[in-house]
Order: sequence, then C-alpha cells, then structure tokens
Amino acid sequence: MRNVKTLGLLGTGVIGGGWAARALHFGIDVVAADVKPEMEAWIRGAVENAEPALARLTFAPLPPKGKLSFTTDLRVMAAQADFIQENIPEQLELKQRMLAEVSRHAPADVVIASSTSGLMPSDLQRDMVAPERFCVAHPFNPVYLLPLVELVGGGKTVPATIEAAAAFFRFIGMHPLPVRREIPGHLTDRLQEALWREILHMVNDGVATTGELDDSIIYGPGLRWAAMGTNMIYHLAGGESGMRHMLAQFGPCLKWPWTKLEAPELTEALIDRMVEGTQAQARGRSIRELERLRDDYLVAVQQVLRQYDIGAGSTLRALEERLYKDAAAAAGAGLADSAGPLRLVETVVRPEWVDYNAHMTDYRYLHVFGEAMDAFYRTIGVDDAYRKAGRMFYNVETHVAYAREAKVGEPLYVTTQVLGSNEKRLHVFHRLHRRRDGEIIATGEQMHLHVDTAAAKAAPIEMAVRAKLERIRAAHAALPWPTEAGRHVGRTKAS
Ligand SMILES: NC(=O)c1ccc[n+]([C@@H]2O[C@H](COP(=O)([O-])OP(=O)(O)OC[C@H]3O[C@@H](n4cnc5c(N)ncnc54)[C@H](O)[C@@H]3O)[C@@H](O)[C@H]2O)c1
Repeated sequence: MRNVKTLGLLGTGVIGGGWAARALHFGIDVVAADVKPEMEAWIRGAVENAEPALARLTFAPLPPKGKLSFTTDLRVMAAQADFIQENIPEQLELKQRMLAEVSRHAPADVVIASSTSGLMPSDLQRDMVAPERFCVAHPFNPVYLLPLVELVGGGKTVPATIEAAAAFFRFIGMHPLPVRREIPGHLTDRLQEALWREILHMVNDGVATTGELDDSIIYGPGLRWAAMGTNMIYHLAGGESGMRHMLAQFGPCLKWPWTKLEAPELTEALIDRMVEGTQAQARGRSIRELERLRDDYLVAVQQVLRQYDIGAGSTLRALEERLYKDAAAAAGAGLADSAGPLRLVETVVRPEWVDYNAHMTDYRYLHVFGEAMDAFYRTIGVDDAYRKAGRMFYNVETHVAYAREAKVGEPLYVTTQVLGSNEKRLHVFHRLHRRRDGEIIATGEQMHLHVDTAAAKAAPIEMAVRAKLERIRAAHAALPWPTEAGRHVGRTKAS
C-alpha cells in the first residue's frame, strides 16, 4: 500500500467536499471526480467554507496546503491517486458499478474506500479488481472537523488494507475505529438510528416537539457523551461499584416497554411536524449560518477536551505531536546554519481574541508567544515524552512591547531568536509579524528556566536537547542584537 500524497475522490457532494477540505488542510493533494461539471465550483466553495474553522483547530505548524484539481473523468482521477475515497449516493447497485469501474483503472496497491453510511463491504467489493484493497471508511459530517472514521473490511479485504487506511486517516487528524464484523449500519449509525426512531415516534405521538427532544439531549446527555460515551457514563452512575450496581439497579427497567425501536410510518403529517419543528428551532437562521455556529463550537469543544487528553481531544493532541515532529524534522536540517530567527508559528487573530476596540487583546500576545515557545521546544526535542520524564522549561520572566494593533482575521506569524543559553537557562526574543507586509506588531523577550518538575527545582538541560539548543544559539549569535531587548517598562523609543 502506498504512502498517500494524493487523495482521489469519487463524488464531490457534502461528504466529498468535507474529505477534500480535511486532506488539503493537512498538505495532501486532492483530485476530485464527479459526473456533474458544476460540482467543481461547489467543491471549491465547500473547501473555502471549511477553512476558517479548520484554521483555528490547532497552532501546530502545518505543511503547505495541498492542491485541488477537478475532473469529470474518473480515469484521470484513478491514474493520479494514492488512495481513493468513494462518496457517491447511497445506492448499492450504483456503488457496486462505480467501484468496479474505478478498480479497473487504479493500480492494485491503491486502497479504495467507501464512505457508505450502512452498506456492507462484502457487497460493495463484489465486482472489483483486487477487492482485497477495499474497505468501508465511514466518516461523519462535517468530515473536516469530526475525527471519527469507522473502518470495516468485507470478506475479501486483507488486514493490510485496514492498517494502511488507518495510518492515512491518522495522518489527517482522524480517529480510525476498526469495526470487528460487518453489520448493516456499522456501529455509530446503529446507535444514531435507535435514537432517531424514538424521536420520530415521540413526535408522531404528539409527546414532544423536535425542539424539546433536542433540549433533552443538549442540556444533559449530549454534554456527557462528548468525552465519555454511554457506557463509561453509566459506569459512573452506579456509584462506587460502578456498572455492576448500575445494572442491578436499572436492569429491571430494561423489561419495561420504554422503547419502540421499530420506526413509525413516515406519513406526510409526521414529515410536516419534523420540518416545522426544526424550522422553528432555526429561528430564521440559514443553513450556512448554522453550519458556521456548529463548526465554531466543534473546534472549541475539541480544544477543551485536548486539555483533558480525552476523546477527540486526545486525537487532536496526537495530530499536533505529529505535526510538531514533522515540522521539527523539516526545520532540523537547517538548524545548524539557520541564518535567521526561526519562523515556527502561523496564526490568525481569532474572533474571541479581540477586545472592545476590536483589536487583539493584550494577554493574547503572550498566548501567541507561548505557542511559539511550544513550537520551539518541539524543535529542540522537548516533547510529550520529555515532559512525562519530569523535565520541562518554565517561563520565569517576560517583557511584551506592543507596537501596532491587529484586527480579527489578520494573519500573523512569529519569529524566535535565541539570545543566549547555558546549562539551565534559555533567553529568547520573539517578534510577532503581520503576514501581509511583515510589519512587527509586538515583541516579547523571555527567560526560561529548565526544571525537574517533580522536585520543582532548576535542573540541567538533557544533553541531546542542549546540543540542539547550542547549535541554534551559535547560529543566532551572528544576528544583530534586537533593539527592543533588555527594555524596561516606560522607556521611550529613542532612549
Ligand atoms: N451526508 C452525510 O451526513 C453522510 C455522512 C456519512 C456518510 N455519508 C455517505 O456518503 C456518501 C455520499 O453522501 P453525500 O451526502 O455526500 O451525497 P451527495 O448527494 O451530497 O453527493 C453525491 C455526489 O456524487 C455524485 N455522483 C453521483 N453519481 C456519480 C458517479 N457515477 N460518478 C461520480 N460522481 C457521482 C453526485 O453528482 C454528487 O455530487 C453516501 O454513501 C452517504 O451514505 C453521508
């Protein structure tokens, strides 16, 4: 199976567009194929719409964006792709025909995956050439923000296909969930469908509106599910003896006729209730507006979970570790003779960063310099493993000088210069630049102390890290000393 540099998409609707946005963002080229030529404009628009939320997902350094091309000829796509993801309508016969067709043009070492929400992989791979390289890879909308992808093999799929697919999806920041056995609806849609059927029943019986049923999830279980799922949460509901007590206490309820599971008849009256209910909930907001709101909170939730290293937050952490490592490896080659300060952080001023003047608020400058330090640490080998071994640098002094304002959406970058270091200390100087013209909008000078975190005492920097740091220090010794370095509060520009 191949190292994936180009992703081929077959079908570029809602899901194809989501795959394109995610892959391009993490540096993968995309060749998108759709029968309708007008889908080219659509997919480019979908990628553009996804960008603001994706751009805020992480501070970790990203590779250059991938390139998007479009074709109505699947052979053109199949000839270039290292991995193919099919996203055409959910019709068994159509998918079987198109998967067989694409498999005749794609080399046998190219994995072909289907986004199907519930069709069985054994059925889908039936007429394919080299069916062992086929699997289901079921994503969730919006594909560019939700990390889950269910991986399901059919009777002819080999384990190497699932492994290769999992490696690729991890590379683009996802959480592959291998499904042990193919079943209609895979895992997640089985669960979602059960809830959905009960909703339809309750709306149909006039028990509740769509809004009330959404409230019953939003204010309670939905918040719990995001990080712990149903089973762990029930384990906690059982008190000290956990799940065993929970089952003893609530087990008898399972016999009560609470749930119906068989879906009700989808009558016109029920459809009207569902549509009217959700329209009332939307309160005049367009789908685009609601999508932006959804995307913004999905980013924010993942960033919160990241702090707790749980669920989708752990996936984000793993992605960031990979991105930092790759960037450090790329920067590493040039470290010895790195001519200028290191450019390790690219960002934009986020809406939540501005104050009442609509400018980036003062403590966010420190935040951005903190991110620059994080990136710098990875470059010299201070990563999760280093921290877990009980070693870290602590910031002991900072001086920020503000030169210009930055508005929402302004693209920025940080450069970092090492002014000095010894066995326990690191003296750095950051410059925050506007990307459009390189102007400096702030500078930050910092002293960091290397510590043994368990003992909470200064301790010598580990040898390998020290060696890398020394190479950068030596290279930066040739740079001019920044005029802002060593400033004290209240000094005028001229002094
Ligand atoms: N929408 C969701 O929330 C969701 C979530 C997960 C998985 N899926 C699955 O993803 C797949 C696509 O769903 P969608 O919502 O993106 O559908 P969609 O209708 O938005 O897009 C389908 C696209 O396929 C194109 N197409 C049709 N026949 C084609 C062919 N022969 N060759 C090339 N392109 C062709 C259409 O022109 C269209 O652009 C389905 O299998 C669906 O079950 C959907």
